[in-house]
Amino acid sequence: MDEVQRLHHSGSQTDRLVYFPRSDGSRIPYAVYSSQELYDLEQERIFRGSVWSFIALEAELPNPGDFKSTFVGDTPVVVTRNDDGSLSAWVNRCAHRGATVCRAARGNARSHVCAYHQWSYDTRGNLRGVPFRKGLKGSPGMPADFDPKNHALEQLRTDCYRGLIFATFSDRTPLLYDYLGPRMRRGLDRIFHKPIVYLGCVRQYSKSNWKLYHENVRDSYHASLLHAFFSTFNVVRAGARREAVCSDDGLHSWSIIFHTEDASSGASYRDSKISSFKEGLRLEDQSTLANVKEFDQLVNTHIQVIFPQLVAMQILNSLAVRQILPKGPTNFELIFYFFGYTDDTPEMRMHRIKQANLVGPAGLISMEDTLATELVQFATASSGSALSMADMGRDVPDDQQVGSGIAEGRIRSFWRGYQDLMGL
Ligand code: FES
Ligand SMILES: [Fe+2]
Repeated sequence: MDEVQRLHHSGSQTDRLVYFPRSDGSRIPYAVYSSQELYDLEQERIFRGSVWSFIALEAELPNPGDFKSTFVGDTPVVVTRNDDGSLSAWVNRCAHRGATVCRAARGNARSHVCAYHQWSYDTRGNLRGVPFRKGLKGSPGMPADFDPKNHALEQLRTDCYRGLIFATFSDRTPLLYDYLGPRMRRGLDRIFHKPIVYLGCVRQYSKSNWKLYHENVRDSYHASLLHAFFSTFNVVRAGARREAVCSDDGLHSWSIIFHTEDASSGASYRDSKISSFKEGLRLEDQSTLANVKEFDQLVNTHIQVIFPQLVAMQILNSLAVRQILPKGPTNFELIFYFFGYTDDTPEMRMHRIKQANLVGPAGLISMEDTLATELVQFATASSGSALSMADMGRDVPDDQQVGSGIAEGRIRSFWRGYQDLMGL
């Protein structure tokens, strides 16, 4: 943030809302997880500001007229495929008196008609029809200067990268290609290295702040401790080889954990008496753990977060994108969109669907993540000026922590980037 912006923000209400006592992102005021005022500012400065928010996979909208209802922050948005194959996104709020226009979660339609007074819009959100516009039997109708062109639905910019559709409210947001940057593109190029097919979605609701989930997905440190399945079955253990990358602004990042044989069979967990490590537990059906090699290297987990609404993932052979949707300061919705590659064999398709049980609301792993974020939310609700601490690995420069999963550098980077974006 430049000096002019800093001066502009100084003395503003944000200074009083939350105070970060250190500039390195290692101390986080708990108030950031529950303040309604801060939440309202996030909607303005982040979601309606100059970020690209992930809204859909192109594979969800293969045909002209296909549409999906979703959100950018807490603003309802519809994304549609136009007749010429291009994509449009518009705010789902009627240009007449503000009713929800599209009430279906997804479908196919060439026009969208508001139930209240039947104004109709095309797939781009342009106003096409107004009943009784010219009046009827002595009723005057709309004024003579009424021009439908001036009453389109509010349209957002859209841009795509490798089949991922993003939207922004801002004219200033750089092209998505540049917003992602070379390091983030490298990660997405890996997961989306060939055409995909959309398989379906599951949704879960968490009674916690959306930023707690952003911490969670940047936190490799918890993965082999919170998740009994990971450590017990050597999907992720502390000694596994890793690579982690962060964008310059700290807001986007990915981490890859390579498949690594653990010759000690988890001795470090046993010796450290880590209760989530269930020694001796065996799966009756080992196929759930199969990692069929389909990339250059055998990777057990690849988790990539593109701020603010996307987490792309490969866990074993399960592929998904997750959409993070804030629902007020103390709730968020998490939607998992599962996909495969178009050239999957029927066996591989079934394997992916079976492994979809690893994540999601009833999954073997990630239900624990939203339990963890809720545990933080519940305990910090009335915490005054108390602080969260993220010191693990703080003596080592963040960019030198790539080999270690026992570090919180990407959480610190996230909070530095967040403060900059919010002008805090
Ligand atoms: S509010 Fe939509 S037509 Fe009146
Ligand atoms: Fe986790």
